[in-house]
Amino acid sequence: MGRHTLFALLLVIGLVRAVGSGADLRWLVPLVLVTATWYVVGTAWRATFVTAGAGPWWLLGLTLLWGGLVVVSPDFVWVAFALWLLSVHLMAFPLAVVYSVLVLAVVIGVQVDLGTHPAGAILGPSIGCLVALAASRGEQLLAQEAVERQQLVDRLVATQEEMVVLHDDLTRTQRESGALAERTRLSRDIHDTLAQGFSSILLLARAGAQRDDPAQLHTLLRQIEETAGENLEESRRVVNALTPAALEGSGLSAALSRLVASMSGETGIVAEFTADGPEVHLATAQEVALLRVAQSALANVRQHSGANRVMVTLTTAPDQVRLDVADDGAGFDAAGWESAVPLPAARGGYGLRSMRERLRDLGGDLVVESAPGDGTVLGAHLPLTVAGAAQESGRRA
Ligand SMILES: Nc1ncnc2c1ncn2[C@@H]1O[C@H](COP(=O)(O)OP(=O)(O)O)[C@@H](O)[C@H]1O
Ligand SMILES: [Mg+2]
Repeated sequence: MGRHTLFALLLVIGLVRAVGSGADLRWLVPLVLVTATWYVVGTAWRATFVTAGAGPWWLLGLTLLWGGLVVVSPDFVWVAFALWLLSVHLMAFPLAVVYSVLVLAVVIGVQVDLGTHPAGAILGPSIGCLVALAASRGEQLLAQEAVERQQLVDRLVATQEEMVVLHDDLTRTQRESGALAERTRLSRDIHDTLAQGFSSILLLARAGAQRDDPAQLHTLLRQIEETAGENLEESRRVVNALTPAALEGSGLSAALSRLVASMSGETGIVAEFTADGPEVHLATAQEVALLRVAQSALANVRQHSGANRVMVTLTTAPDQVRLDVADDGAGFDAAGWESAVPLPAARGGYGLRSMRERLRDLGGDLVVESAPGDGTVLGAHLPLTVAGAAQESGRRA
């Protein structure tokens, strides 16, 4: 915009001075009009001209018109300044320099012809030429830099968008693998708790088929009923533990507290629950794991311990959460169990192992302390890492 104003200004000044100095109006007016039109047309279709490579030719035309004006009146010589400015924008810089020097030669020639002192005739136009070239070149470089910066910003934005997509993919994969792991655990638990129950029902029923004594049959039927009832209960427990809603509504403490209370009510074993330590944020996977451990441990207390009391304690620290289940029952050879070869799942003995696996999957572990006659203490712990929390927030997002 500044360039156009300058061109118009220089042209008008030239015109006014040329009229003042009595130039031939028959040439002057048409030439000025043609020059102005040439300039306006070239500027209006500049984009088209430049892409067609016609920029230098247009400038050449303008320069010839300028030459004509200078011939009519040397007052137009300073329009050269606008030509210098334009040249940098219309052709490669070295070519613009050559062009500018040629124009400069004309300007100097005119000055000398006008009788200006040679030093002034050379120095003035040369400085003008240098300033015009430097200003135009500077402007051009700044514009280029702005374009490059914009491209850089565009690339960064594109990269960031890619990152978001990748992150979404990662979150989905994590969720899918989480779901897969949960399915594996589920099948393990069903296999363990329900399969066990059904196999004992089967054994009892087979035994019944071979008995005729009504009293014995009655006893077997009662046992079948009992086991079936337990299995039903067990299946409800499996379902409940897998429904995150049961946890999300109330949190782990409340779920554990309910679990312990129902244990008390159903068995007559005195069961107590205590929660200790600061409130921490647990991932759903962590809450589910701890709840499952508690359920499995209490099932063992009920099935194997013959205990009078059981204590369930949830202890939180900023970097760890612990769940302890301690009973005063018969106990068992924990060291022997640790070193024993695992039995096939259908025959039981899978509960403690799957508790431990579940905890190890989440970076924690299960410690089993027991000896015959000494009661049993199960200690489950899980680390509370920043990564765990981040993973969880990713899963919820
Ligand atoms: N609280 C407990 N009191 C006494 N014995 C236990 C207790 N918990 C586990 N056990 C013993 O450890 C064994 C392994 O337990 P577990 O892995 O849960 O398998 P399952 O309950 O299917 O037998 C049990 O069979 C039982 O002998
Ligand atoms: Mg068990």
